[in-house]
Amino acid sequence: MKPIRKAVFPVAGLGTRFLPATKAMPKEMLPVIDKPLIQYAVEEAVRSGITDLIFVTGRNKRAIEDHFDRIPELEAELDARGKDALLDCVRNILPSHVNCIYTRQPAPLGLGHAVLCAAPIVGNEPFAVLLADDLLDSDTPVTQQLIDVAHRHNGSVLAIHDVPVEHTNKYGIVAGQDIEPGCLQVERIVEKPAPAEAPSTLGVVGRYVLDSEIFECLRATQAGVGGEIQLTDGIERLMQRKSVFGHKYEGMRYDCGSKEGMFQAVMDFGRKYYFLV
Ligand code: UTP
Repeated sequence: MKPIRKAVFPVAGLGTRFLPATKAMPKEMLPVIDKPLIQYAVEEAVRSGITDLIFVTGRNKRAIEDHFDRIPELEAELDARGKDALLDCVRNILPSHVNCIYTRQPAPLGLGHAVLCAAPIVGNEPFAVLLADDLLDSDTPVTQQLIDVAHRHNGSVLAIHDVPVEHTNKYGIVAGQDIEPGCLQVERIVEKPAPAEAPSTLGVVGRYVLDSEIFECLRATQAGVGGEIQLTDGIERLMQRKSVFGHKYEGMRYDCGSKEGMFQAVMDFGRKYYFLV
């Protein structure tokens, strides 16, 4: 399998659950303490060996491009005031070997459609997908964990975890055969099934490593649940051509696309990394 160097960050959703905060600001720029969600995801990708960051943006997303760009006036001001630590954190927001590439999703037609918008940039190689509103706190970055599984088993890999049975309708749910502890070969995947229809309680969270054949599969995928082109439906097609695995990641996940998850993340990150209580 080719090395995995590219990561796609779909950031074109409307973020309606955080209105009015997201009326003029992208959801992915909401901070947990002092760092926006998108930066946590980017740092995870960079720690996993990713060098090309591909952002699929939409309306109102200029702030993301600005965030990863240099701001000479701010840097000069911090320099003049001798604020070296702050200067370092704004100037070195990304290591110099990393490239940012931006493309646009013309309308929020679904996560699958957003990923498909990155096809011309990704080309013919496996790639990672990170949804910044899933904040993952782990010793080994979860993207790295997926890349390791992808290389070991030569296939696509989805991050999965056990969800309460009453929450199956919030996730893509997978079922399949265990192939090693914490890893299964996916045989079924269903988007947001009701508990009675769910094939298991293993839910997919926002980290993926995908074979580039997913693009062909997504091109053939019609709108599904919620009238959106679902990545889950594309993955279901991909499974008919290539192996897809589910990896029970090690780490703590915060669903920062929901207010409860964001609240929990601020509490835990505040205690763990900032205020040491
Ligand atoms: P979500 O469904 O969680 O995001 O999509 P949303 O639609 O922005 O949020 P709510 O439900 O209205 O509050 C998961 C990820 O996929 C991206 C979102 O930006 C988010 O990172 N996405 C979703 C797109 O890029 N394009 C889409 O058409 C849909």
